[in-house]
Amino acid sequence: MSSTEQTLSIIKPDAVERNLDNEIKEMFKSKGFKIVKEKKIQIEKVEAETFYKVHETKPFYNDLCSYLSSGPIVVMVLEKENAVLANRELMGATNPKEATDGTIRKKYGISIDKNSVHGSDSVENAKIEINFFFKD
Ligand code: CMP
Repeated sequence: MSSTEQTLSIIKPDAVERNLDNEIKEMFKSKGFKIVKEKKIQIEKVEAETFYKVHETKPFYNDLCSYLSSGPIVVMVLEKENAVLANRELMGATNPKEATDGTIRKKYGISIDKNSVHGSDSVENAKIEINFFFKD
């Protein structure tokens, strides 16, 4: 069954730094995503630590949080039928080396850290992540 969902997308510092944000937004739009909210911000490391808390026991946690807070990012709420899964498919594998043709990470990703985009991994986490960046 399909239903309209929202998911959180982040265009990460490596992509914003290379001025790829508009091209990446066009990829979302061309796949039928509506960008219902967006803002360009830079977050503090402590905010990145909260956002990525689920990874706090991982060896890459500290570098990941330093990286996400290292420069401007674009955060967006994307809307589409089955948006969470559709976004993960469009992003491609976490490691750009394993991403397939046509995906954002295949096209723009540099490394597993500098993989250009983040997307929520479940409907439940999408709600938490959207609320994290867009508390109204
Ligand atoms: P993201 O989808 O933003 O979620 C967590 C991030 O951790 C992931 O993308 C990667 O950029 C980063 N990361 C770094 N090393 C690893 C790893 N070994 N496995 C998974 N994610 C990693």
